[in-house]
Amino acid sequence: MAARIIDGHGFAAGLRARVAEGAEALKARIGRAPGLAVVLVGEDPASQVYVGAKGKATREAGMAGTEYRLPAETEQDSLLALIARLNADPAVDGILVQLPLPAQIDAQAVIDAIDPDKDVDGFHALNVGRLGIGLDGFVPCTPLGCLMLLKAELGDLSGLDAVVIGRSNIVGKPMAQLLLAESATVTIAHSRTRDLPALCRRADIVVAAVGRPLMVKGDWLKPGATVIDVGINRVAGAEPGKTRLVGDVDFDSARAVAGAITPVPRGVGPMTIAVLLRNTLVSACRRHG
Ligand code: GUN
Repeated sequence: MAARIIDGHGFAAGLRARVAEGAEALKARIGRAPGLAVVLVGEDPASQVYVGAKGKATREAGMAGTEYRLPAETEQDSLLALIARLNADPAVDGILVQLPLPAQIDAQAVIDAIDPDKDVDGFHALNVGRLGIGLDGFVPCTPLGCLMLLKAELGDLSGLDAVVIGRSNIVGKPMAQLLLAESATVTIAHSRTRDLPALCRRADIVVAAVGRPLMVKGDWLKPGATVIDVGINRVAGAEPGKTRLVGDVDFDSARAVAGAITPVPRGVGPMTIAVLLRNTLVSACRRHG
């Protein structure tokens, strides 16, 4: 039987609607909407699209979304000065600096200059540490979105075997922490992992976040496994000159074996922005008791 398709697009739409309601209620109480500042340095085309989408979604949820677009040659000190201004601005509840940053800028220094209580991306070292030891903080948007989909699909994750493929700070590592906090048995796989197919075949949950198009095949999966595909890869399409988006999972072979699977597009992708809005609302609520 073909796998159930996990509707990330629909789930994200529901989450955005709930956030919009929460934002409206908070505004009625404190006299202003929650505010998110999104900072982009340079002209990376994918980052421009993401930043535009984040700002637009923020405003559509009834929040104040402000985009700051700085030239590629911006010096680190100017970026730090902007962060200091945003940290001090009481109308700003969330600050996000889009990654990657140009080579002359030390990305971790910039992230760690953000007030940790406005760090809605959850990348500040303090929030990374809070996640590791189970304290309240901000959790990176993409892995938190994946966890929401997994819990909606499976309920209790306790005791399940999970393999996270990819060890990035943005997805793989926080994803593993979140699964561990749900009492799953977690393995993080990466480019040096031996016999990845055999490892995946033992897993009840596979989260693929490596950026390698169509890497995970159906015969790597345990029948009935739940598969979360974080990959967004643009590859050549069937017609000359056309491209298409594919995940890190070979969807066609995987769906014949898995119990449930996220598609690409309309799976994990829409969750990232929805969770960003949710984190911004949470920040505003925390800051206003
Ligand atoms: N670049 C790729 N993903 C992300 C993300 O979730 N947040 C930020 N700030 N930059 C990114």
